[in-house]
Amino acid sequence: MKGVILAGGLATRLRPLTQVTNKHLLPVYNKPMIFYPLEAMQKAGIKEVLLTSSPDHSGDFANLLKSGEDLGLKIYYGVQQNAKGGIADGISYAKEFAKNEKIVVILGDNIFRTDLKSSIQKFEQKDKGAIVYGVRMPTHSRQYGVIEMDSKGMVLSIEEKPENPKSDIAQTGIYMYDERVFDFISTLKPSARGELEVTDLNNIYLKEGSLQCERLDWWIDAGTSYDELLRANNLVAEKVKTGEL
Ligand code: DAU
Repeated sequence: MKGVILAGGLATRLRPLTQVTNKHLLPVYNKPMIFYPLEAMQKAGIKEVLLTSSPDHSGDFANLLKSGEDLGLKIYYGVQQNAKGGIADGISYAKEFAKNEKIVVILGDNIFRTDLKSSIQKFEQKDKGAIVYGVRMPTHSRQYGVIEMDSKGMVLSIEEKPENPKSDIAQTGIYMYDERVFDFISTLKPSARGELEVTDLNNIYLKEGSLQCERLDWWIDAGTSYDELLRANNLVAEKVKTGEL
């Protein structure tokens, strides 16, 4: 299983913090944001990671992370030509890197503490399918993809930023896909906001009945607003000091 981390996008919501740098290089307590998904990959037993970013900041990631050796990883770098092409567009850059293996994708601004190792091991045994990770988000779920699931963890629906959410489970930025993911992405069309949407991709697996949802107990999407970035800094500081993270 190979790892893919997406660190593209334009982060206009965080300007001027992101005027001359990439949001995933901003600090969250004692390290740049991008360290958290990278450490999650390492903890999960992933050895090789493709990190995709926008054309203007790719070199900054290589300067910071080099070969990845210090983090116990082998990092490869990808340049997403259209920095706002969408999450599914970012994932498509991993086609050659994945070499017909399954992939685990983590968005570069996601911070969580769940160890993915056992679900990766289970997923590797499966013939086909995909996994999304959800978290309870009672008050803000309409800012995210919203997942409706049954008691066995099978996904019944996912809607991107719905007006009337069908559940309080938000789709996080952690996904596992089988080898067919790149063929599925090639069938997607840009959404109204001009992006290849991860929710459209996940809905392909949903339609064939092979999309599962696993739950996280704690998750922060650090890159959505100044307040979430501040909250991420404070929460991570607290959790690092108590040894929870
Ligand atoms: O964070 C979870 C949410 O991520 C999900 O609940 C949504 O279903 C999913 O669509 C996505 O929501 P956003 O549209 O708010 O994602 P955002 O544009 O903030 O991008 C999320 C991350 O993906 C961010 O770290 C940058 C990276 N990214 C994004 C785009 C659009 C890329 O690497 N390339 C891209 O083209």
